Amino acid sequence: MSRILITSALPYINGVKHLGNLAGSMLPADVYARAMRLLGHDVLYICATDEHGTPAELAAQGAGVEVADYCDQMHEAQKSAGEDFGLSYDYFGRSSAPSNHALTQDFAAKLEAAGLIEERVSQQIYSNADQRYLPDRYVEGTCPNCDFEGARGDQCDSCGKLLDPIDLIDPYSAVSGSKDVEVRETRHLYLRQSVMADDLRKWVEGHKSDWPPLATSIALKWLDEGLRDRAITRDLKWGIPVLRDGFEGKVFYVWFDAPIAYIAATQDWATETGGDWASWWRTDAGADDVQYVQFMGKDNVAFHTLSFPTTIIGTNNQGGDQYKLVDNLKAFNWVTWYGGKFSTSQNRGVFMDQAISIAPSDYWRWHLMANAPEGSDAAFTWEEFQSSVNSDLANVLGNFVNRITKYTVGKFDGVVPSTGEAGEHEAWITQELAERLPALIGHYEAREFRKAAEQTRAIWAAGNEYLTRSAPWTHYKTDVDQAAIGVRTGLNLVALFGIIAQPLIPDAAAKILDAIGVPEENRSWDFGDVADLLDALPHGLAVTPPELLFTKIEDEQVAQWTEQFGGETA
Ligand code: 2FM
Ligand code: ZN
Repeated sequence: MSRILITSALPYINGVKHLGNLAGSMLPADVYARAMRLLGHDVLYICATDEHGTPAELAAQGAGVEVADYCDQMHEAQKSAGEDFGLSYDYFGRSSAPSNHALTQDFAAKLEAAGLIEERVSQQIYSNADQRYLPDRYVEGTCPNCDFEGARGDQCDSCGKLLDPIDLIDPYSAVSGSKDVEVRETRHLYLRQSVMADDLRKWVEGHKSDWPPLATSIALKWLDEGLRDRAITRDLKWGIPVLRDGFEGKVFYVWFDAPIAYIAATQDWATETGGDWASWWRTDAGADDVQYVQFMGKDNVAFHTLSFPTTIIGTNNQGGDQYKLVDNLKAFNWVTWYGGKFSTSQNRGVFMDQAISIAPSDYWRWHLMANAPEGSDAAFTWEEFQSSVNSDLANVLGNFVNRITKYTVGKFDGVVPSTGEAGEHEAWITQELAERLPALIGHYEAREFRKAAEQTRAIWAAGNEYLTRSAPWTHYKTDVDQAAIGVRTGLNLVALFGIIAQPLIPDAAAKILDAIGVPEENRSWDFGDVADLLDALPHGLAVTPPELLFTKIEDEQVAQWTEQFGGETA
């Protein structure tokens, strides 16, 4: 048994997340957490809302409420959307919690003592109309390179050049459109990442064999380009105050405090449950044996492989509390909407709360993980969603369960039959499972979600093939014992199919296991001898066909959703 600490990138507070966000961080983290728990590991899965920054302030302003109230509301909304999707966090905290204020300020003090923080004066655009400094991407204007008129302050979408907002010609505020903007000098703290570059490179290169290439390649690209120091404070009201003379009215940059909130949320978990947070995070407090796994989309990789590790290594070098670095970093590409971007304003894509109102969470979980954006971006389409649900869930799994449980009720008094001896067909399925179950576990351990779903489906399909071979229905009239062994094996396969389905489709799996009377304590992944698995249910145990497991998605439904949420023709 190992101790596994899991975090998924903290969702921004400004709105319920869309399916792409879900598929690239929270959902795979949940699936992994569930699989590891089933394997008997001691798992702690932590997430939280990421509540600071300009977007949070602007979203609150747009909603006409105080930012603290806005965050309270949106935290609850995101928490409940997570529950609706069965996300099994051990704790879902908040980056705005007092614990994170204290810990962020503590890290900053230690980094300062380590000589890794420097005060610098920089020039930034201030908007008089908005009465705020504008973050780079909220300044727009004409590109000095190609004369494109709608260039963003951080990058020109037309020629691709990285920009500094003060170089834009005729700059204006993207918040209000106002041209009443000026360049002001402002003082900020910089994290001296550059002095850490060699340490970071060694560490990242050491993970080339166990992190996805996506993660190491992004980190190494930044290092190759020459790691730049980063401002970790901002001129904003909402955030974690910087305790330093001359920094009144400034807060830490959201990307400085958000990853620290992984730790602070664990502290809050400990306060709530009586757990020991330090034993998960601090190698000087027992966390040496913890395997720490992070889940995130590719846009988050640089922050998790360069900035946050600088915070951790820099603090550790001070010799006090020793925090863990991530051991395994699972990064994902994008889920796209028919190859394009999700967009609320243009009615393209589905958000978590909408998704759950039109189909059960298992349908989404299955489809998104079977098509996880692991090797490349993965396009969501209604047609493929329909096919995942209809063919994988309804035809391959649902039909198997219904067929065999209903037949048991019809011909075997609704109980697990006790007669009949295992023969060649049972030997065949035993061999299949002996190969496939370890492969399935291997895919979960390697966090290969597409492969895990593919193997799960292949095991369900092997069950169907077994029924075709053993054909209890044809033997029933001539050799009832021969039919009985087919039904008994089939029922044990139903139980096994439910057991292996738990990480991906927990609700349907529970229905199946309840129907077949598998007690909670027998639902873990302690597979033992495969031959025993096929005769594990007590003979004479009553089984009830589960209520309808999956409803097929009709073409008319697809047409309606396409109209409502966008699709090929939108
Ligand atoms: O990209 C995002 O959604 C960010 N809010 C992720 C933050 S992850 C972390 F470090 F907290
Ligand atoms: Zn340009």
